[in-house]
Amino acid sequence: MGLPLALTFADSGLRTDIYDINTKTIEKIRQGIMPFTEEGGEEMLKRVLANGMLQAHDTPELISQCSFIVLVIGTPVDEHRNPNFTGIQRAIEGVISHLRDGQTLILRSTVFPGLSHHVKQYLRRQGLDIAVAFCPERVAEGFSIREFRTLPQIVGASEQSTRDAVRKLFGRFTDDFIEMQPIEAELCKLMTNAWRYIQFATINQFYMIASEHGLDFNAILHGCRYKYPRTAGMPGPGLAAGPCLVKDTMQLAAFSHNSFPLGHAAMVINESLPAHLIDLAKRKVDLTEKTCGILGMAFKAESDDPRDSLSYKFRKLLLLECKEVLCSDPYVHDPQLTTLEDVLRRADVLFVAAPHQVYRKLKVRPDQVLIDVWNCVGSEP
Ligand SMILES: NC(=O)c1ccc[n+]([C@@H]2O[C@H](COP(=O)([O-])OP(=O)(O)OC[C@H]3O[C@@H](n4cnc5c(N)ncnc54)[C@H](O)[C@@H]3O)[C@@H](O)[C@H]2O)c1
Repeated sequence: MGLPLALTFADSGLRTDIYDINTKTIEKIRQGIMPFTEEGGEEMLKRVLANGMLQAHDTPELISQCSFIVLVIGTPVDEHRNPNFTGIQRAIEGVISHLRDGQTLILRSTVFPGLSHHVKQYLRRQGLDIAVAFCPERVAEGFSIREFRTLPQIVGASEQSTRDAVRKLFGRFTDDFIEMQPIEAELCKLMTNAWRYIQFATINQFYMIASEHGLDFNAILHGCRYKYPRTAGMPGPGLAAGPCLVKDTMQLAAFSHNSFPLGHAAMVINESLPAHLIDLAKRKVDLTEKTCGILGMAFKAESDDPRDSLSYKFRKLLLLECKEVLCSDPYVHDPQLTTLEDVLRRADVLFVAAPHQVYRKLKVRPDQVLIDVWNCVGSEP
C-alpha cells in the first residue's frame, strides 16, 4: 500500500523517498519494476524515477530530512487472531534517532484503536515534538492510483494545525476530506472492513442454506436483486478472506473485548465455505479416487496476491479427500501451481476459487464436475 501512495505523491510534484527494510523490494523499485500488480503503477514508477521525484532506500537516514513521514507497514493479527500491538512501535523505535521536532508522522496502516494516541505519547516521552495523524488507507489493492483521486481522505488528528498540514499534503490529489479524532478514524477503518466482511458472510450463509437444499442460489439471488432498490449493493457469494477483512474484523472484536458476535459469526461462516463446497462436490461424485482442480489462488479476482487466500485452505482440505489436487492461477507466482490447461485436462472436479476473467470462457467437459460458487464460468464480463 505504501508504494502506490509514494508514486502518487511523487507524480504530484512532491519530492518523495521510500524506506523499506526489504532490500530486494527496494532494488526492484530502483530498477523501475513494480513488485506487485498495480494498475498504471509501472508507468508511473518509471516516470518519477526518471524525473528524480522518487528515490528508494533500504536505510532510514533520509527520514531526518522529511517534513512528512507516512508509515504503512503490515499489521497482521497473530496465529490466535489477536492484534499485534508491537509492530508499529518497533518500526518507530527502529528509526527514532532519525526523527526530529516539527515533523508530521502519518500512520496509514490499519491499527488497533488507540494506537495513534499511544504513538503520540511515546514520542513525547522521547522528548520529540512530532505531530501525529491517523489517515487510513482505504483504496482497493491493485487500483490504488486511480482511487487516491476519487476517494475522500479521512484525517484523524486532535489538533487543527495537524489536520491542516495533512490536508495540504493530500490536497495534491484530493479536495475531499473527512476530519475526526484519531481513535474515531481508527474505528472507522476497522468498521468499514468488518462491514464488508459481514456482508460477504451474510450472502455466503444464504448460499449455503440454498445449496444445502439442492436449490439454485443464482435464481434466488437474481430474484432478490432484480429491480429491487432495497437490495442494492447485495454482493454475490464467494470466498472472502485476504490480508485485510478477516484480521480487521478480529481487531474490532478484540477492541470490543470479544463482544462482537456478528464479527465472529462472519469469520466462522466465511471460513467454512471451502468445506461446504467440498461437501457439494461429494454429493455429486465420490472424491476418493478423483483429481480435483482449484482455479484461482489469489484472494480476489485479477489479483496476484495470495496472502490469506482461502484457496490454500481449500487445497489443504481437498488433499484429505481426493487422490490429487491441482492448483492454477494466471497471476500468482507459486512453484506449487500448474497451468490452467493442465488442470482442465487432468481434473475430474473443478472448483473456481477466485473469479478471474479468464475463467468466464472456460469449456468444461461433460464428464467434469464444476463447483462454481461465484457463478463465474460462462457469465458475461
Ligand atoms: N492490502 C490492502 O488491500 C490494504 C488496503 C488498505 C489498507 N491496508 C493496510 O495497509 C497496511 C499495509 O498493508 P500492505 O498490504 O501494504 O502490507 P505489506 O506487508 O505488503 O507491506 C508492508 C511493507 O512494509 C515493509 N516494512 C515492514 N516493517 C518495516 C519497518 N520496520 N521499516 C520499514 N519498512 C518496513 C515491508 O518490508 C513491506 O514492504 C496494513 O495495515 C493493511 O491492513 C491494506
